[in-house]
This record gives sequence, structure tokens and C-alpha cells, in this order.
Amino acid sequence: MNIGVLTGGGDCPGLNAVIRAVVRKAEKGGDRVLGFRDAWKGFLGNDYVQLTTDNVRGLLPRGGTILGTTRGSPYDVGDGIERTRRQFANLNLGALVVIGGNGSLTVGSRLYAEAGLPIVGVPKTIDNDIVGTDVSFGFQTAVQVATDAIDRLHTTAESHDRVMVVEVMGRDAGWIALMAGTAGGATVILVPERPFDLGRVCEHIERRHARGRFASIVVVAEGARPLPGTPPDMDYAKDQFGRDRLGGISAAIAPLIEERTGYDVRVVQIGHIQRGGTPTAYDRVLATRFGLAAVDAVAARDFGKMVVLRGATIERVPMALTQGNTRTIDLSLYDEVESVFFG
Ligand code: F6P
Repeated sequence: MNIGVLTGGGDCPGLNAVIRAVVRKAEKGGDRVLGFRDAWKGFLGNDYVQLTTDNVRGLLPRGGTILGTTRGSPYDVGDGIERTRRQFANLNLGALVVIGGNGSLTVGSRLYAEAGLPIVGVPKTIDNDIVGTDVSFGFQTAVQVATDAIDRLHTTAESHDRVMVVEVMGRDAGWIALMAGTAGGATVILVPERPFDLGRVCEHIERRHARGRFASIVVVAEGARPLPGTPPDMDYAKDQFGRDRLGGISAAIAPLIEERTGYDVRVVQIGHIQRGGTPTAYDRVLATRFGLAAVDAVAARDFGKMVVLRGATIERVPMALTQGNTRTIDLSLYDEVESVFFG
């Protein structure tokens, strides 16, 4: 059988490890793997490469995706669905493995449900916001990178008696902020799920100073928002898909904290460093298990499903679970971290 594979959405450490596992397992079963370049763009444009054990050698530790990635889909193109169907037929594709986040998995589930196409999903995102899986690969690497940065920032903050406002990724869910902030001993953590009051943020920092601790780390997820009607007023530009072009909440709150508290404040935006580079061992293993399980799903002709981690087990659940859903943080953990560690 010919099995297609593509990587869609933002890149993420571990994508190449999934590709490698798909190729290795498919070849063992006598199947041929075609890798489409730049996601659906390459699929519709007939831009692909045959992937073999030879050309996926050395991929396990490599960040990014050798296939390239973009954010569009067949639904953005006039006759996209018909062209997708034709491409399955022309290339004699028995299945397509879509490795992507909420956007790509939603597209995959619609193509399965609306066009009957044999698609299997693999959930990826550093944001960890995909419903159905306990963890997506790439997340653990991003948390480690952010935690390493926070550890480093502690020492310089302490040397200068400064407040460091550290911005991490997390558009709709504050998983990276909550986990890296907890691991790094942050004074305050701000997440999209809990609109913040800057007055309270300043109180936490001031309480800490009153105890003789003159350096503080404030971790803020890029998607965090103030309570309605309170500062700062964030007005984001839109990207080509109409989404807020996030980034900058740290720079917006830092001068306000400085003004209210009188403390010296600096801003660090970790940005795409969280998404680049080699995956941790945990993510390499999870990505490998997902890749192997995706080929099992294809062999079982269990289409319209994505492979997920539940507890310690890899399972399959409908990709449709992702449609319009976001897996947000565990608020009880956030509340406990707030009540015990903030300030
Ligand atoms: O999808 C994950 C994510 O890392 C979000 O947290 C972030 O908003 C977005 O990607 C930014 O991606 P890009 O810069 O590629 O548009």
C-alpha cells in the first residue's frame, strides 16, 4: 500500500521522530511511504518525496520537520476537496497520516467524515492543547527549554534585585506557563484560562519583597489576558488566517508593574526558541510510539481516528474530538500553585 504523510501547522520538536517511525514500520510491513512537502500545499501541488529507511536516517534527534509545514488546507481552495480526492486516486494512496495540531486534525476529521478519505491523525503541539490525549509530543521539550531559561533568569534577577517578566507560548491554554512556572519557582504565573488583575500581580511581588526577597519571576503565557476593562489594553494585529498575532503581553505589563511597584523590571520573550531544536528523550519516545501506532491504525483500516496517550497507553480516538475544542489547563492545579507559591 502507498501511505502518505504530511506535517501541518506550527513545527514542533519530535515531528521528524514520528516520520521516521512511520517509515520504519511501514517498510517492515511492505508498504511505501510518500512524504508531502509543506503540508496540504505539497499534497495538492503533487510535491512529494518517497521516504525510505535510508533517507530518514539520523532524524530522531532533529528538530523541525524535514517535510516542511504550512497552515492552509484543502478547505481554503475552491475545488480543494475534489483535488484531494483525485490526488488519493492518482497516487493510489491507501491512507494519509496527518501529523498536526487542532487545525490540521480538524481538517483531517472533516475530510474523513465529509469525503470518506482514509486519514489517521497524530497530535502534535508544544501548547499541549489537543483534546483526547493526555500529552502531545513537543510539549515536554518546550517546558524544559522554558524552565532552563527561568533557572538562568533567577541568578541575574537576584544579582540586580529585579523583576523578570518571562513570556512563553500558549495561545489558548497555559500549559507551558503553568508547568515551566511551577518547575522554575515563579512568583506569579499568568495563563489564558484565568484573566489577570495587574493590581494583584503587583501585590504578590510586593509581598515577596516585604519578606526580603528582592528578585521575582513572572511567567506569562502569550495568550494571557487582563480582566475586562483593566490594563493593559491589548490590540493584536491579525495573521492571514484571522488569528491574533500574539506576542508582546510581557512588554505591555512590564512598564505597568514598574510604575506601580517602583521595582526594576526586565522582559524576556522566549518565543520560537521553545519550538526549535532537538526533542527531549521523552518526546522522542512519545513521537516514536505515535508514529508506530499510526501505522497500526492504517493496517487496521481504523480511519478518522488519531493516536493518543492515555495514562501510559497509546489508544485511538475520533479525530473529530478536536473540532472546536481546546484542552485547557487543570484549574485546580493552577489554584493550588497560586495559593501556595505565588508571592
Ligand atoms: O501552535 C503553537 C504556537 O506555538 C502558539 O503557541 C503560537 O501562538 C503559535 O504557534 C505561533 O506560531 P507562528 O509564529 O508559526 O505563527
